Amino acid sequence: MELEFSMKPIIETDSKLIPVICGLSRASLEDIVRIENLSDRPAWNEKLFAQEFANQHSHIFGARVEGQLVGFLVCHCLADEAHILKFGVLPQYRRKGIGRSILCHVIRDLHANTAKWVTLEVRRSNHVAQSLYHSVGFTEVGIRERYYSDDGEDALVMSLNVAHFIDEHGDHPHLENDVNGTQRAFHLF
Ligand SMILES: CC(C)(COP(=O)(O)OP(=O)(O)OC[C@H]1O[C@@H](n2cnc3c(N)ncnc32)[C@H](O)[C@@H]1OP(=O)(O)O)[C@@H](O)C(=O)NCCC(=O)NCCS
Repeated sequence: MELEFSMKPIIETDSKLIPVICGLSRASLEDIVRIENLSDRPAWNEKLFAQEFANQHSHIFGARVEGQLVGFLVCHCLADEAHILKFGVLPQYRRKGIGRSILCHVIRDLHANTAKWVTLEVRRSNHVAQSLYHSVGFTEVGIRERYYSDDGEDALVMSLNVAHFIDEHGDHPHLENDVNGTQRAFHLF
């Protein structure tokens, strides 16, 4: 059963899509695996994702556009610290603001769940993801050498202070009026 699934209209600006973000249940397992398999370097199989649905510390979020799952994020939350394990958007939906929408939604959700810090690892060569993380407020706090077992690439460890994010961006995303007074432009934060 989906934890939350709203059919609210999608707000579309010139280049950005505003997806519906929700907690996912095991019913979305196949869709998540499909997105993972379409990524440049699929690393998790169905069994690993299934284990996350059984893990009480795991939080799994999805982004839907017109009902279709187009992105997901898996994180663990333990005490006051959350760790992002997996995050991806369908290739044809990238660069439309969906990754940022998911990330910001998750940070606000973690704040409501009393998390103070969010950490993650990202490939040294993954400048696209690093750019997104930096723009949201993550900073580099370390390097794990040869962290990725497939090719031995290093991971950058990044961390975000949740309270700083909330101070800067608030605990709700903001709608803005466009020049005609219509509420359609959107602050993706
Ligand atoms: C990383 C990822 C989730 C971003 O999702 P997305 O929906 O494309 O991201 P957004 O459209 O919200 O982009 C947010 C910011 O990321 C950066 N970014 C995204 N795509 C970029 C690109 N192709 N080139 C440069 N910067 C890019 C930009 O800073 C962008 O902000 P801007 O559009 O205002 O310039 C997506 O590229 C992806 O699934 N990559 C493969 C899996 C992966 O790398 N996951 C992260 C593992 S740590």
